[in-house]
Amino acid sequence: MTDRLNIAIIAAAGSGTRMQADRAKQMIELGGKPLLLHTLKRFEKCDSVHEIVLVLQPDLTSEALAAISRHGLLKIKRVVAGGAERQDSIYRGLQVINANSAGIVVVHDAARPFVRPEEITTVIDRAESTGAALMALPAVDTIKQIKTARVQRTLDRSRIYHAQTPQAFRFSIIREAYERARVDGYSATDDSQLVERIGQRVSIVEGSPLNIKITRPFDLKIAELINTEYFNGAR
Ligand code: CTP
Ligand code: MG
Repeated sequence: MTDRLNIAIIAAAGSGTRMQADRAKQMIELGGKPLLLHTLKRFEKCDSVHEIVLVLQPDLTSEALAAISRHGLLKIKRVVAGGAERQDSIYRGLQVINANSAGIVVVHDAARPFVRPEEITTVIDRAESTGAALMALPAVDTIKQIKTARVQRTLDRSRIYHAQTPQAFRFSIIREAYERARVDGYSATDDSQLVERIGQRVSIVEGSPLNIKITRPFDLKIAELINTEYFNGAR
């Protein structure tokens, strides 16, 4: 397997509705650099990732590519247009991957710029040994399952994890999961869910509270703090 390529699919084709900004969320600057570039640089620096497939919103392409070219990123081999939902975007990314050379596919949200290269490696290594792995964070709050604003039951918190990305899979596994979801018209909110439903076990790699998904305006304030306190104000 060592001669095979590990390929990252970076999902950056969302419209950032909840951010309510005047520009695409991916292009909002943090420390003078678009969020998307922060994310891409983590993958560029990760030796376990050999190639990047970037899934972009079509009307963002020229702006994003201009920013990318200024930062000398060498691993981006393909740029593809995303679809209506995240699942469609990842599916399109998978379509351009060569089955004969692909090893592990690692999927990541562009909106999570604070993943560390060594964390990406850990998730890839786990997928190499088990087939499928994701970063997930143990819940700190007690979780209630509700129905019409009433508590139905309290879940056992020690067994509750928040799914993050990166999520990594052997190529044959993620391809089958996505093809079967497409045939069945099944939609999910992360990649692992599609892999779980084909009966594949997915391993957990304990995530980091710094690996936030920048979703709402408040998250940008947290992002500024994380960038200065933990990433030396990376530019
Ligand atoms: N994404 C994508 N294609 C889509 C939708 C989302 O590639 N059709 C990407 C986003 O760019 C983001 C990641 O998936 O990096 C996680 O999605 P989310 O945080 O929900 O971002 P948006 O969909 O852009 O935001 P919103 O849901 O608020 O519109
Ligand atoms: Mg979304």
